This record gives sequence, structure tokens and C-alpha cells, in this order.
Amino acid sequence: MTYGCQMNVHDSEIIKKYVKECGYDFTEKIENASLIIINTCCVRESAEKRIYGRVNFLKKFKYLNPYLIIGMAGCLVQKDKKALFKKVPHVDFAIGPQEISKIPEIIKEARKGIKYIGDFKEREFIGESEKGLIEHPYQSWLSIMKGCDNYCSYCIVPYVRGHEISKDYNIIEDEFKYLAQCGVKDVTLLGQNVNSYGKGLEENINFAELMIRLDKQDLIPRIRFMTSHPKDFNEAIVNAIKNGKNLCDHIHLPFQAGSDNILKKMNRKYTVNEYIKKIEFVRQELPDAALTTDIIVGFPGETEEDFNQTIKLVQDLRFDSAHTFIYSIRTGTKAAEFEDQIPEEVKKERIKRLIDIQNDISIEINKKLEGKIYNILVEGRDKNKTRLQGRTTSNKIVVFKGDDSLIGKFVDVKIIEGLHWTLIGEKINV
Ligand code: SAH
Ligand code: SF4
Ligand code: F3S
Repeated sequence: MTYGCQMNVHDSEIIKKYVKECGYDFTEKIENASLIIINTCCVRESAEKRIYGRVNFLKKFKYLNPYLIIGMAGCLVQKDKKALFKKVPHVDFAIGPQEISKIPEIIKEARKGIKYIGDFKEREFIGESEKGLIEHPYQSWLSIMKGCDNYCSYCIVPYVRGHEISKDYNIIEDEFKYLAQCGVKDVTLLGQNVNSYGKGLEENINFAELMIRLDKQDLIPRIRFMTSHPKDFNEAIVNAIKNGKNLCDHIHLPFQAGSDNILKKMNRKYTVNEYIKKIEFVRQELPDAALTTDIIVGFPGETEEDFNQTIKLVQDLRFDSAHTFIYSIRTGTKAAEFEDQIPEEVKKERIKRLIDIQNDISIEINKKLEGKIYNILVEGRDKNKTRLQGRTTSNKIVVFKGDDSLIGKFVDVKIIEGLHWTLIGEKINV
């Protein structure tokens, strides 16, 4: 079970590879499981609560099957460390995000009834272990860096994922080739701030150069990346996408807040104007690119005026979609100590206003796509299992009727209806 960001989804692929090597098969049914590993997130309190709730729910399966092993991995474990066992004593092992390679050893011990708690040390890369079990042979992730040194004042990630380290280009190229050999057609390069790739490496390489090199390999037709940070996002990256063949036209550039005052308190290191200029450059050079963002509402000290500036930015820049979050206090971060915390009701009221405005914009943008034809990589069935689902190069989800033989293939689809999150299409028969 995986919670959290794509980094965790990718880590889970690696965990699954180890688990498989230990002789396990996978099941959808909890009651059939002899091993359950929950890969956790702690970016907001809501995630934490949900995870502890889930782990407590699993307790009853231990009574039904005394041999059941329950393990926890990931960021929440790194944050709570030993204290975690007080909350969920029935857990057999708990390790941080940098100890995944110990899993085979830990499972062996757990089978003998020996509990294990991680050492929570920071580690350098181990290239080999980054090759995961690719669940869908056509879509996967490649982590190009680890950790984060930005210390945005609200964020727990640098404390649980450690310092920023870029991976050597040779290792990335090796993994890239491995993914291509596995049949991957859509890969996402992952990092907390991919735009600062290359810092600290012996070789003089930056993110734009990395993308150009991977594009030139011409092995994987869709290369995506996330997440970008506005302070490091630059024209060279936009030009690489413009001139590249396989680099996707979707840019996720979180702005977090539309007021310079709040951005400063967030330690984001850019101004609203600088952000706007970067977006304008993207729009000028890549007119068809989709732009998405993350926004935090109710950061300590956010006045009605600050919040209105966030609304204004959303209205002016017209993002294809936005992930909106209510600010969540994370103990240990700087913002947790700020005294001017915003009451929950105010945060809730503000986020509702923001979501309503963004939803209207998303629908308006998607409606304009009706009648257009897109090439879609089909990834599987939609939630209701009634239709197929895939994505455009710009990362828009398209659902349409078709049979399973199309999964993993590229098909042309005409958009018949644009909704808020998804586009409804029909396959074009050529
Ligand atoms: N490194 C990425 C992703 C970080 S986590 C980035 O810098 O964008 C994903 C999103 O969670 C962030 O962009 C932010 O909008 C949100 N987030 C992080 N900490 C938060 C907190 N304490 N409360 C609410 N949202 C938070
Ligand atoms: Fe958190 Fe900021 Fe790092 Fe993103 S860049 S992970 S928001 S500290
Ligand atoms: Fe969550 Fe860790 Fe990702 S805290 S958002 S899983 S880096």
C-alpha cells in the first residue's frame, strides 16, 4: 500500500522487487496476505492520520493469521521513528526511505519473529537498487536525485528525505536504458526539485543538459519530470522541451502563494513577478503546454489581502489544474513555530473559494479541447473499469471506450467532452 508522492510510488516499485525476490506473490485481498508493507507519507497531518488509521485497521488480520507480517516504510516512519511502535505495536518492522535495500534481510528476521526498527541514517545512492519491479511495462519512474535542501518553512520533506544529492549521469543513463528495455514508453524523472539537478556532481551538467541527453537517446517516447521549483526553473529547460523530440509539454510549477510577503515567510526565494515572467516565457515558447501548480492556503499570517493575491494569480495565469492544500502544521519545521496561525474555519472557507474558481478555469480550458485529436498512451482501465484511460503528452487524462488489447499502446483519440479533471474521448479508427 502506497501513500504520498510519486517518489513513494517509485520506492514501492523497488520494495516490490525485493519482496518478489523473497518468493512472495502479490494479492489484492488483505485476508490472503502473509506480508503487508505500507509505504508512508507525512507531508500533511491528514496523510498521517489516514495511515495510522489504516495500520490499526490491519491489526485484526493479525488475529486471523498469526504469521502475518506487517511492515512500514517511508517518510512517516522516518519522522516518528521509535515512537511509532507506541502507536502501532503490532507492526513487525519499520524503516525509513533510505533503508529499502535492507528489506530482504528484515523479512527473513521477521519470519523468525524478530522485530526491526530502522537506523534512520542518511545514505548515498546505491545505483543497482534503484531498478524496481515495473508494474506496468509501459510507464515508470526514474529518480534523478534524492532529498531536498530548500527548507521551505512549512515543509517536512527535507527532514525525512535528507540532503539533496544528484545521481551521476552514467547511473541515470543506465537506468533509462533498463526502463527502455523493459518496454517503458512513458517515464517521469523524479526529484523534489529536479531543476537544481547536477549540484555537487563532478561532471558539469544541469537539468536542461540531462533532458537533452536523454532525449537524444530516443529510446523512450515520453519523458516527463517533476517537481520543478520556480527559483531554479529556467529558459534552457523550456528550450530543451521546445527543441526536443520526446520531452513532454507539461510543466508542473508550484507557486504556493500569490503574495510576496507570504512567499518570503515560506522561504521560497522568488517573487510573484519573477514567477509570472517564467510562466509568460513558457506560454510564449510552448503555447500548447499544460501548466499545473500547487497552492497552500492559510499559511501562518496569511491575510485576506494575501489570499486575494493568490486568487488573482490563479485568475490571471489560468492553470490547467492546481493541487490546493490547507496549510498543515508540521512539528519541527520553522512555520510550526510562527504564532500567527490561521483558524481552521478560515482556511476551509478560503480553500473552498479557491477550488471553485480553479474548477471553473479547468473546465473552461478543457472544454476548448473538444473536437481536438490527441495521441494517447493507454495505461489501463478507469476507476469504474468501464472505459480505458490514458494520458496526452500534456498529462491530461483521457477516458474512452475500447478493449484491453489497447493497453500499453498509443492510440489517436478525439475529445468529445472536456470535464474538470478528465477528458472524455472516442478512439479514431484509421
Ligand atoms: N518538492 C515538491 C513537492 C513537495 S510536497 C515541491 O517543492 O513542489 C507537495 C506539495 O505539498 C507542495 O508543493 C506543497 O504545496 C504541499 N505541502 C507541503 N508541505 C505542506 C504543509 N505543511 N501543509 C500543506 N501543504 C503542504
Ligand atoms: Fe518541501 Fe520546498 Fe523541498 Fe519541495 S522544495 S520538498 S516544498 S522543502
Ligand atoms: Fe510524502 Fe515523503 Fe513524498 S512526506 S509527499 S511521501 S517525499
